[in-house]
Amino acid sequence: MPAHHIRLKNKSQIPVSPSLFPPQDFNLTTKTHMNTPTHHRILLTGAAGGLGKALRTRLKSNCSVLRLSDIVDCGPAQESEEVMLADLADSKAVFAALKDVDAVVHMGGISVEGPFGPILQANLLGAYNLYEAARMHGVKRIIFASSNHVTGFYSQGETINANHPPRPDGLYGVSKAFGEDLSRFYFDRYSIETACIRIGSSFPEPKDRRMLATWLSYDDLHRLITACLSTPVLGHSIIFGASNNSVSWWDNSCAKHIGFHPKDSSDVFKEDIFARTTSPNLEDPVVQKQGGAYVAMGPHGFID
Ligand SMILES: NC(=O)c1ccc[n+]([C@@H]2O[C@H](COP(=O)([O-])OP(=O)(O)OC[C@H]3O[C@@H](n4cnc5c(N)ncnc54)[C@H](O)[C@@H]3O)[C@@H](O)[C@H]2O)c1
Repeated sequence: MPAHHIRLKNKSQIPVSPSLFPPQDFNLTTKTHMNTPTHHRILLTGAAGGLGKALRTRLKSNCSVLRLSDIVDCGPAQESEEVMLADLADSKAVFAALKDVDAVVHMGGISVEGPFGPILQANLLGAYNLYEAARMHGVKRIIFASSNHVTGFYSQGETINANHPPRPDGLYGVSKAFGEDLSRFYFDRYSIETACIRIGSSFPEPKDRRMLATWLSYDDLHRLITACLSTPVLGHSIIFGASNNSVSWWDNSCAKHIGFHPKDSSDVFKEDIFARTTSPNLEDPVVQKQGGAYVAMGPHGFID
């Protein structure tokens, strides 16, 4: 399929709710409305990725048209879907992807630690292109997939909240911190609201002991995105994305206005994970720090 080609099967139009325009009271709390679409057209970037695939069906309840975008094939458009190939580093492609969009769920980009070149293109330039396109098209709400690796150098014994300064554990974490700062600027200057979700570990199940603290189920991720899309006032918010796990390093009291109430918990996997993993070496920084293995990766050297 050629780049920017759109396939739309369901052409029905639902007006965008006027409640999306934020009042000035930032202490409002709201319940999430799981089955009421709050937006007409939502753009999901990174739609071919792990979380993109998990959100593809789930986000249908949030909008009447779901536009899927990625640098790689997302498969054919299903009912009420549009598919649009776009490299986030390509400003023209990103501009086209945001046309007629009411909100963005931005999952696209490099999702792991690694060399700076690809991170620079997809996560830094990509974020800039996305926010510039949002400004030009008047898109006022963005859900940004940030990461726990923005604060990965805090110790696992510490409980941190959104007011703790970033301590990225690698170039990937630095790129997500850039996205958080960039979105703050676009909120202060252009009133584009953003939820920076510092996603913990979002997989079907937690895979190791660290993930007992960081796990975010796919359903809770969708609950969190739904809350961010539907809260009357989002502002610029930073929220840690984790399920209702007994062990937690993150305090979301700065984000009460979002009204996120996780329902799943890693606790049900604890016995099994303890049985198949060995006791950690508590001297190892990888065990001590919240970022886990990321704190020991690199250096990655110059860009070729
Ligand atoms: N899954 C997690 O536990 C987790 C944790 C923290 C943060 N996140 C963030 O959530 C988002 C989704 O994570 P995921 O696990 O689905 O990652 P993923 O790697 O499976 O998906 C990312 C998608 O982005 C696309 N992409 C990469 N470069 C691109 C570019 N230049 N232009 C357009 N698309 C591009 C990829 O093709 C891929 O489909 C990422 O931004 C990631 O950093 C995920």
